[in-house]
Amino acid sequence: MSTDTPLLARLRAALPEPGALLTDPGQLTAHARDAAPFSEPGAPVAVALPRTADQVAAVLAATHALRVPVVPQGARTGLAGAANAVDGCVVLNTTRMDRILGIDPANRLVRCEPGVTTKALAGAVAEHGLCYPPDPASWEHCTIGGNIATGAGGICCVKYGVTADYVLGLDLVLPDGRRLRTGRDTAKGVAGYDLTRLIVGSEGTLAVVVGATLALRPARPPALALLAQFPALTAAGNAVAAITAAGHLPSALELLDRATTDAVVAHGGSLLKPGSAATLIVESDAPDPAAAARELAAIGRLCTGAGALDMVTATTTEESAQVIEARRLVTPALRALAATLPGRPTAFIEDVAVPRSELAKFVGTIEEIAARHRLRIFTLGHAGDGNLHPTVVFDEADPDEFRRAQTAYDDIMAAGLALGGTSTGEHGIGTLKRDWLARELDPVALELQRGLKRLFDPGNLLNPGKVLDLAAAPAPSAAGAVRP
Ligand code: LAC
Ligand code: ZN
Repeated sequence: MSTDTPLLARLRAALPEPGALLTDPGQLTAHARDAAPFSEPGAPVAVALPRTADQVAAVLAATHALRVPVVPQGARTGLAGAANAVDGCVVLNTTRMDRILGIDPANRLVRCEPGVTTKALAGAVAEHGLCYPPDPASWEHCTIGGNIATGAGGICCVKYGVTADYVLGLDLVLPDGRRLRTGRDTAKGVAGYDLTRLIVGSEGTLAVVVGATLALRPARPPALALLAQFPALTAAGNAVAAITAAGHLPSALELLDRATTDAVVAHGGSLLKPGSAATLIVESDAPDPAAAARELAAIGRLCTGAGALDMVTATTTEESAQVIEARRLVTPALRALAATLPGRPTAFIEDVAVPRSELAKFVGTIEEIAARHRLRIFTLGHAGDGNLHPTVVFDEADPDEFRRAQTAYDDIMAAGLALGGTSTGEHGIGTLKRDWLARELDPVALELQRGLKRLFDPGNLLNPGKVLDLAAAPAPSAAGAVRP
C-alpha cells in the first residue's frame, strides 16, 4: 500500500520515470543549498528532476493546487542563496533538461533547454563557427537556466556583455503551471513590455525557465593576454582607468590584490610573482593577431606608465590561455588556502560593482576595512566592469571572527553603495542581500518590484523569500495593485 502524501502522489504522477522524484533524506540534503555561505537552507520534502517542460508544468500545477512552495534550481553554483531550499518545499531541479534543440547560423541563435551547461552550449555553437560569450567562473558546471535566473556575468563580459544581452526569448512556466513564451527570434523587436528582460536576473521568483532562445556572435578571434604586477593597488586602479580612457576594448580586464596573487602563486600560478600589491590580467581578441598584439602592447605601455614593475606578455594563444588560467585558479586557490586554516574556515565571496572611475578608491576602502576588522580579505574581480569580489576568509567556528566577518561584509556593501555602486554585479540578491536591496532601491521602485512578484505569483509559492521578503512587506492595497 502506498504511503505517499497527496503531494507525493501527484508529483509521482507528474514524474513517472524512475529516479525523477527524490525523497531520501540524504538526497534531500544534497539538493538543499547552493554555494552561498551565511545562509542556512530549509528542509525540502522532495526533489523533482523533470526532463520535459510538460513535466515542469505538471509539477507546478500540483504544488500550486496544494499550496506548496517550490524552489527552482540549476547546478547550485549560485553564491547568494537563491537556490536554497525553504522548509517544506519541492526543489525543482532542471539540470536533466539539458538538450540543445537547434543551432541556427542563419539567424545566429541557439535554442536550448535550461539544464545545458554554459560550457557545453559554448562548445556546441563553436562547432558552427559561432560564439556564446558569457563565461561565468563556474561555466563548466553552471547551467544556462541558472545563468538566466541570476543574470550571470563572467570574465569576457567587459567586452561582450552579460547573459541578459544574449537572451532573445524564453519558454516559461508560471507558478500555477501555465506556460508562456516571451520574446522573439528576430534580431530586433520592441513589441510590448520586455518580459524576457524582466525574467533574466529574477532568481527563480517569477517563473521557471524551461527553454531559451539565445543570440550568438561570430566566433571570437584567437586572444592574446598579458599579466602586469604593480607595487600599489592604486597604481593598478589607475592603469585600469587609463586603459578605459584610451578607448581600448580588452576582452578581459581582471584584478587580483596582493593576498589573492600570493594565493594563486601558492596554488601553482607560476606566471605570477609573489609579493606584488596587485596583478592585472588583460586579454585582447582584436580582429587579427597583429591587431591584438598592438592593442596589448599599447595596454602594456599604459600599465608601465601607471607603475607596473613586472609584466608577462604572451605571444601565442597557448601562453595566453595560461595567463587566463591564472585568473581561473583564484577560486580553487582560495578554497585550498582556507582548507589549511584552523577551525571551520569559510571563503565568503562578495560581489559589489562600483562606477569604473571609483574602482581605485573602492579597493583602498576594502583594504582599510580588512585592517579595521583584522580579517583576511582577498580582493579580485572584473576590474574593467568595476565589479569586485572581495572575499573574506574566516573561521566560522570562532564567534568573534564570524561577527567581524559579517560586519566587514556590511561595511564593504555600504562603501560600494556610497560610491554610487550596486550591492551585486552578477551573483544576485538571493537571501543574502535582501536587506541591501531595500537600501539600494528607491522605495517606489521597491514597491513596484513587490507588485510584480504578486502579479506573477499571487500565492508567493515560487522561491518565496528570495530577492524580496513579501512576508515582511506591507500588504497590497485593496485593488491588489501597487500602492500610490
Ligand atoms: C568569479 C566569480 C566568483 O568571478 O564570479 O570568479
Ligand atoms: Zn565574477
